[in-house]
Amino acid sequence: MKLLVTGGAGFIGSNFIHYWLEKYPNDKIINFDFLTYAGNLENLLDVERDKRYKFIKGDIRNKHDVEKALTGVDILVHFAAESHVDRSLYAAGDFITTNVLGTQILCEVAVKLKIKHFHYVNTDEVFGALPLGTKTKFREDMKFDPRNQYSASKASAEHFIRAYYHTHNLPMTISYCTNNFGPYQHPEKLIPLFITNLLEGKKVPMYGDGLYVRDWLYVKDHCRAIDLVLKKGIVGESYMIGAQHKEVNNLELTRKILKLLGKSDKDIEHIKDRPAHDRRYAVDWGKIAKLGWKPQYDLDHWLDKTVTWYKNNQNWWMRVKSGEYKKYYTKVYGK
Ligand SMILES: NC(=O)c1ccc[n+]([C@@H]2O[C@H](COP(=O)([O-])OP(=O)(O)OC[C@H]3O[C@@H](n4cnc5c(N)ncnc54)[C@H](O)[C@@H]3O)[C@@H](O)[C@H]2O)c1
Repeated sequence: MKLLVTGGAGFIGSNFIHYWLEKYPNDKIINFDFLTYAGNLENLLDVERDKRYKFIKGDIRNKHDVEKALTGVDILVHFAAESHVDRSLYAAGDFITTNVLGTQILCEVAVKLKIKHFHYVNTDEVFGALPLGTKTKFREDMKFDPRNQYSASKASAEHFIRAYYHTHNLPMTISYCTNNFGPYQHPEKLIPLFITNLLEGKKVPMYGDGLYVRDWLYVKDHCRAIDLVLKKGIVGESYMIGAQHKEVNNLELTRKILKLLGKSDKDIEHIKDRPAHDRRYAVDWGKIAKLGWKPQYDLDHWLDKTVTWYKNNQNWWMRVKSGEYKKYYTKVYGK
């Protein structure tokens, strides 16, 4: 089997490549990535000489490059995206061109080349926000209600994928995953931002009251779920992917990280809230459970492992945090 992964140099994409090469020794995998600020080939140093793995630098918005790379591929797993909500509020243009136009180009080429399976890695954020203090959860049949430029672009892209499914029989599946954490996550995202700030002796910036509830999932569980959808998912269907129903708010999560690093509430700095900050995400993953999936990795244990990974890989994140990232950090969080 020959897979092409878009965005394989990013956080989840690189974890997926590691997962796949380990689990399926006879498969070949192409990583098609434009290496934006979020793409980092250091995430894949250990497999770069593996004969089953090939990296192609390319932009999903470039039809010619996409067609060349996809020729001879069986399965396309589409991760590539501008993925950071905070950035999307100030630079929506990149989110529209990569997330929407790039996805439409992938659909067009996938149809032309008769790709056997196109999987789109979507986010639960397309469903908007749930009220605090309720038991409601996102389900596949809920209507989209994106509330920021990132989720709006991810929702728009899905409409194009569905259009290609209906008009051109694109053999697609879709998954909506909750917030991921684990190794190789860019330190602009909450968990690695907080861990690395504390390791640098800085405070952690907490948006608003910190009572934003998320359903954190260890990245390997996400990879397992995509694997299962590729194997057993029904074409045209979508699947929610969520954690072990242990919703925690940002303040509780931060306190777990502070404790793991021997720090206290004194290391929290409350800052002005993000506009339209979604209050609560929670996922009903009953549909994918029927295919045989449930999350295996517990938050507390794997958060501890993740903290250890960032402690042991300071060179990796220090390089990522320098340069362009510094300008972005100052713009969003101030000096
Ligand atoms: N991180 C999460 O918690 C989460 C949860 C659910 C869904 N998702 C989705 O999973 C996917 C991967 O997320 P992530 O956190 O790994 O993102 P990431 O930002 O770490 O990685 C994105 C990758 O896409 C590449 N890329 C960006 N624009 C490109 C383009 N025009 N052409 C080719 N490559 C391009 C980047 O170089 C980078 O390697 C995204 O589609 C995201 O919406 C993420």
